Amino acid sequence: MSKKDLDWSSIGFNYHVADYRYVSNFKDGKWDDGAITTDSKIVLSEDAGVLHYAQEVFEGLKAYETEDGHIVCFRPDLNASRMEDSAKRLEMPAFPAERFIKAVDEVVKANEDWVPPFGSGATLYIRPVMFATGNVIGVKPADEYQFRIFVTPVGPYFKGGAKPIVVKVSDFDRAAPHGTGNIKAGLNYAMSLHAIVTAHEEGFAENVYLDAQSRTYIEETGGANILFVDADGNLVVPKSFTNSILPSITRRSIVQVAKDYLGLAVDERPVRLDEVHNFKEMGLCGTAAVISPVGKINDHGKEICFESGMDEMGPVIKKLYDTLTGIQMGEIEAPEGWVHIIK
Ligand SMILES: Cc1ncc(COP(=O)(O)O)c(C=O)c1O
Repeated sequence: MSKKDLDWSSIGFNYHVADYRYVSNFKDGKWDDGAITTDSKIVLSEDAGVLHYAQEVFEGLKAYETEDGHIVCFRPDLNASRMEDSAKRLEMPAFPAERFIKAVDEVVKANEDWVPPFGSGATLYIRPVMFATGNVIGVKPADEYQFRIFVTPVGPYFKGGAKPIVVKVSDFDRAAPHGTGNIKAGLNYAMSLHAIVTAHEEGFAENVYLDAQSRTYIEETGGANILFVDADGNLVVPKSFTNSILPSITRRSIVQVAKDYLGLAVDERPVRLDEVHNFKEMGLCGTAAVISPVGKINDHGKEICFESGMDEMGPVIKKLYDTLTGIQMGEIEAPEGWVHIIK
């Protein structure tokens, strides 16, 4: 085995066709045994449910090489259970959690040469996806599905890596109150595409979505949850009273890191847009974003500037970032079960 000949430090957040993927199909009420395959293409009937009624859910996690040469991933059990929740919400059959983790192990091991080397700043992004392959014409759930996991090496999600970004308050909504914002379904991202293209054209890195019901409270961005640091240096985490924020695994981990490793108080509560100017630091968190510092929010031309500024991460966000990534990379002792050793 030898690593692929890629320029790991400048690969960006793009798709590279790796050698192997895992596929299992659901038919006649059950999942088949599943297998590793080389075929990256999917052939669908024109009346496949995914094409008409958007029965599709997915996950995203990363595998890393550690300093001592292991390949690990971070809390895959939480991705497995969130994918079960997502599937149930869209009337799809859940792929069993223990099989999910085993499939992640198999596909990462098969693509070992694609795991970026320790210290390169790149990681192997793992994308489990499930979609309706069975026929539908009337509006109803399909009878057949495919579960697939593919992988691709990735660099940082935001250009510039850990440099502060500027985000805008969006006039579009990502998720309806009590809709599907709390699951990881492609339909939520379809909702956000026009908004993100528009934000990029205007020079912003991401959109901050407000609650769709009252347009008063901060929810999340198109691809990450939000963290704030208050004037006392404690963490404030937006909570949705309409259940429309994705339960980020990174955010749930950061909350525990803040309390147990850094001794910070954590306030998880609805956060109003009009109180954000009181905060000192802001960050976006997620598997792809890790923790990306935000320097400014642009609210319809009015700038809300954080004390941490546009040059570097604020001190609290930096401590959270260093502790979380230290745990992920095996440099700081992890809570039981957080680091899953693949090899
Ligand atoms: C809308 C949205 N919110 C939050 C997150 C972060 O979730 P996680 O930390 O589980 O990756 C993601 C995915 O990265 C996302 O797509």
